[in-house]
Amino acid sequence: MNVFGVDIGGSGIKGAPVDLGRGALAEERHKVLTPQPATPQDVAGRVAEVVGHFGWTGPIGVTFPGVVTGSTVRTAANVDPSWVGTDAGALIGEAVGGLPVTVLNDADAAGVAEMTFGAGRGRTGTVILLTLGTGIGSAVFTDGRLVPNTELGHLELKGHDAEKRASSKAREDEELTWEHWATKRLRKYLAHVEMLFSPELFILGGGVSRKADKFLPYLDGIRAEIVPAELRNDAGIVGAAMAARAAATR
Ligand code: BGC
Repeated sequence: MNVFGVDIGGSGIKGAPVDLGRGALAEERHKVLTPQPATPQDVAGRVAEVVGHFGWTGPIGVTFPGVVTGSTVRTAANVDPSWVGTDAGALIGEAVGGLPVTVLNDADAAGVAEMTFGAGRGRTGTVILLTLGTGIGSAVFTDGRLVPNTELGHLELKGHDAEKRASSKAREDEELTWEHWATKRLRKYLAHVEMLFSPELFILGGGVSRKADKFLPYLDGIRAEIVPAELRNDAGIVGAAMAARAAATR
């Protein structure tokens, strides 16, 4: 069965029909730029453009980089603040001509995809996926079940919002070496999360998962196993489609 998945990110909005049997994109994804400012109306329009590119007419799953309860956005740390309180499902649903739309947090979507088709396959106990990008997103699982909207990127680290210190963007903006970022930022952050949750496994996703060899060697002293995410850039799209299917069959 194919279901459509869309990933809304700070710089790009990308989507494709997903083959849910394989957990892979059924067609090459289409990407458009995220409008600046990324207001609800403009973003919904771009999502419709991505969906329209494929002439898609079935259920659609959409990720959002903030807390989403039901289909309403509750936080918007790295996108336009006017999203807060917006019923994203209704707004995007209208923009795509009334197709059923399911919205969920971006890290939760990536986590769901990794647990089924990627690095978390078959893993029990507590598993935490962290996406290290512009911000830090988290998805917490216990025996494969998601606790949604955990927001571990906003834990406090040395008096700062953790994502401002340990995200991939922090490494780039502050021009930190991989070693400095990994030992002084990421490792301390993981140690803090481990102190709170004692997971069996950390899955590290986001763009940097492709460069895991540059920082994994520095993450000693963490008890949990640490592995890079496997689905790379497609995890959000695949997870969004999985959520839309779950909603359609509920
Ligand atoms: C947001 C999370 C999101 C993460 C990654 C954080 O700033 O609060 O909801 O998952 O960024 O986009």
